Amino acid sequence: VRTQVGIIGAGPAGLLLSRMLAVQGIESVVLENRSRDYVEARIRAGILEQHTVNTLREVGMGARLDREGLEHDGIYLQYPGTRHKLDFPELCGRNVWIYGQSEVVKDLIAAQLDDGPPLLFEVSDVQPRDVDTDSPSIAFTDADGVAQVLECDVVAGTDGFHGVSRPIVTAATQGTVWERTYPFAWLGILADVAPSTDDLIYAWHPDGFAMHSMRSPSVSRLYIQVDPTEKIEDWSDDRIWEALATRMALPGWELQTGPVTEKSILPMRSFVSSPMRHGRLFLAGDAAHIVPPTGAKGLNLAVADVTLLAQALVRLLAEKETDLVDAYSDKALARVWRCTHFSWWMTSMLHTHGDDFDAQLQLSQLQRVCSSEAAARELAEMYTGLPVAL
Ligand code: APR
Repeated sequence: VRTQVGIIGAGPAGLLLSRMLAVQGIESVVLENRSRDYVEARIRAGILEQHTVNTLREVGMGARLDREGLEHDGIYLQYPGTRHKLDFPELCGRNVWIYGQSEVVKDLIAAQLDDGPPLLFEVSDVQPRDVDTDSPSIAFTDADGVAQVLECDVVAGTDGFHGVSRPIVTAATQGTVWERTYPFAWLGILADVAPSTDDLIYAWHPDGFAMHSMRSPSVSRLYIQVDPTEKIEDWSDDRIWEALATRMALPGWELQTGPVTEKSILPMRSFVSSPMRHGRLFLAGDAAHIVPPTGAKGLNLAVADVTLLAQALVRLLAEKETDLVDAYSDKALARVWRCTHFSWWMTSMLHTHGDDFDAQLQLSQLQRVCSSEAAARELAEMYTGLPVAL
């Protein structure tokens, strides 16, 4: 089998890259080691930046998003006694949308299987080969157990944090990895109850951070900061609701509860791997970087990466020019580091870790963002998303 771009991984990065390339007349094949059901059921982030929404619309993926996505014009920042709305359009002229990553993935998979390039689920033993030549390939075993080789011009490593692509780039380039593990995790729930708020609430509390998000007018998504060693079995639904109500308490406001349909604990870390390319193997999305979820940047960064990568690959394969592929890693990493800083900053401002001095600094910073237009605008610009190329 032969194609132009062999894409490893059918997460949002790989699927969107394939779609963007198809729109511009470049062929690809997507190889995914999990099943379609598994990929579609993964509950992940749910906040789309302006550029992400624009990008999805441009490649014909805006119909259900425009129908079911919830446009939000800001967030609330809270600390004891105060809940302050940051009005994004007023501060920076942009908005964000709530539309689950799993919905984005479902839309992309449906379009791909309908009239898009080949998408193969349940493959195994995926191995990129000869990526330092102009004719790389990907060896894999298909769902029927038959060994296959996909010949291609370029390999895209969009296989997430645990994928096979990054280790190849790091080993070949003697690349650098930066990592920060945070001393806390998020316990997240999905609940069948109408959100108790019109916009997302990010709440600082001495017991730890709490957040009220949503997936639809009838489904709420809520999080509390917990110690990373906590076991989910020790958190009954009642205990979770109590912690949420305490940490987000505000006179005159009540948290509505309902049946919990999903609950899990997510560790929080920052991770950046450089460079994002070796020869004809290009990394994008979680394969190259991880951010803690506090700034809602993970999915949006993946979309920005593949936007840059699609432009670079079209230029290489249709026009035989190498300037954009040569610039790809540096350009993508500039944005990655800006968002890594923002995610670290939001995380550091909102999570308590038992240090009273730090707690005072956090409260001082929160008061500043809630009282200074300049400080609020910086948060708004970063939260709603920077232009793809900085
Ligand atoms: N072969 C084939 N597929 C693989 C392999 C492999 N060896 N290893 C991993 N995969 C698949 C995974 O099963 C997954 O479907 O690659 C896909 C990677 O998808 P994601 O982990 O969702 O990563 P990405 O597409 O970069 O999405 C951006 O940013 O913050 C996050 O939550 C956000 O998951 C989102 C991510």
